[in-house]
Amino acid sequence: MTPSGLPGAVGVVRPPRSPRTRLVVVSTAAVGQAAAVIIAAAVAARPTGVLGVATGSSPMSLYAALAGMRADGLATEGLSLVALDEYAGLAGDDPRSYRSYVGTHIAEPLGVPAARTFVPAGSTAAQGAEYERTIRRLGGVDLQIVGIGRNGHIGFNEPGSAFDSRTRPVELDPSTRIANAPYFGGDPAAVPARAMTQGIGTILDARAVVLVVQGRAKAEALAAALYGPITPDVPASVLQAHRNVTVVADTDAFEAR
Ligand code: GLP
Repeated sequence: MTPSGLPGAVGVVRPPRSPRTRLVVVSTAAVGQAAAVIIAAAVAARPTGVLGVATGSSPMSLYAALAGMRADGLATEGLSLVALDEYAGLAGDDPRSYRSYVGTHIAEPLGVPAARTFVPAGSTAAQGAEYERTIRRLGGVDLQIVGIGRNGHIGFNEPGSAFDSRTRPVELDPSTRIANAPYFGGDPAAVPARAMTQGIGTILDARAVVLVVQGRAKAEALAAALYGPITPDVPASVLQAHRNVTVVADTDAFEAR
């Protein structure tokens, strides 16, 4: 399905396995704007809503596009931001921490104060439960932005994660530490071995989900998530079971066939 009016939408794509999943395939240059159009509609409908945010390279252009829309009058300052995940053992002001990413690339450009910006922290089950309470206190997540790992992970829910999992400390897959090594001087051993992540059950509770996917390295994971069976082996495949999911993918990540 390629809604018209979105910048750079391409012709015919194979529909996803779940008829409820909307799929938007655009050029790499248009990913940020296409995703931002969807997010902006939700923000305009509920300017004091709760926006779930993902880190990583894929949604970077989306945040830049949203900041541009704010400059054009979109009111984003009233939002609350709830992040998906965080490495364990990094100081919050470490530039490699997701707290730093959320501050620099999302909260500051969108004018959301620190008091309404939430990033999971720590490494204990109790701290995970505390984050769940924070989300509940906010009234739940209206729209959750997610990326996908090369191994199909969402947040830091690695393959094998339970579909009803909640925010909890997790161990990272060796493949994830390799994939994220470029942010740690190229050394997988320097990537923290543990993290705190919203669970798959937590993500599924969001009223809407937007999955942003870019790059050829994600093609296999995206195809498995969209067209494969719903299985813990591919955590993102669980999104087929959610009733309001939009996937924004670039043509590199989406291998039309
Ligand atoms: C990281 C994060 C995920 C992110 C994914 C993809 O490991 N924990 O939340 O979605 O990897 O990141 P990128 O977009 O940089 O490929």
